[in-house]
Amino acid sequence: EKQESLSKKKILITAGPTYEKLDPVRFIGNYSSGKMGFALAEECAQRGAEVILISGPVSLKVSHPNIRRIDVESAEEMYQAAITEFPQSDVAILCAAVADYRPKEQADTKLKRTDDTGLTLELVPNKDIAAALGKVKQPEQLLIGFALETNNEEQNALKKIEKKNLDYIVLNSLQDKGAGFQHDTNKIAVIDKQGNRRNFPLKDKKAVAKDIIDQTLG
Ligand code: PMT
Repeated sequence: EKQESLSKKKILITAGPTYEKLDPVRFIGNYSSGKMGFALAEECAQRGAEVILISGPVSLKVSHPNIRRIDVESAEEMYQAAITEFPQSDVAILCAAVADYRPKEQADTKLKRTDDTGLTLELVPNKDIAAALGKVKQPEQLLIGFALETNNEEQNALKKIEKKNLDYIVLNSLQDKGAGFQHDTNKIAVIDKQGNRRNFPLKDKKAVAKDIIDQTLG
């Protein structure tokens, strides 16, 4: 029965990085590969859910027919897709590494090198997708965020639960070997909004996805 335990559920998942364009050849990005978010999408689909996977630029493929994939590039595009899909979803799991800032200007032509001066970029804040969904969340909807931390991990994660109106946060730390970006493994803790914390050992991202779903939707 576990296989079909999420049937009739519609689950929105964000995954991967965002690219914030500087000019036609350059962007500001991050190291997210999409592996964690795609593992969550496959796990939810295998349990019978209908999955909407909103993905930044990654080189991964989805295999399960229950996954509808929406490819985006920038944080603004990810926001538009997420805010459109969320009202029809029962759950949102926000695993994407969304850029908090974008260049104020996006040049139409390639920025030219000048040998004698430096280059200063002005950045402006992107929308916080998690916080925006937290604002419109209905009582029957569940919002699950991630926190990627390098220091003061639990304190920062608890702040994010509060600020973004999350039900759970999945904490991963770059202090832990084999955890976070790019690896096939991750080491997480799941924290609920009352502050209850459950730690998990380093595992394959597929197994981590199972733990996250068992702990939050199980
Ligand atoms: O893709 P992989 O290589 O497998 O790596 C997985 C991962 C490390 C990217 C993943 O496990 C992870 O931690 N994802 C969240 C990364 C992140 O941006 O964390 P954050 O602490 O900066 O953001 C907190 C939460 O707010 C996250 O749920 C994030 O998706 C969300 N957010 C952040 C900024 C923003 N503008 N909009 C958002 O929705």
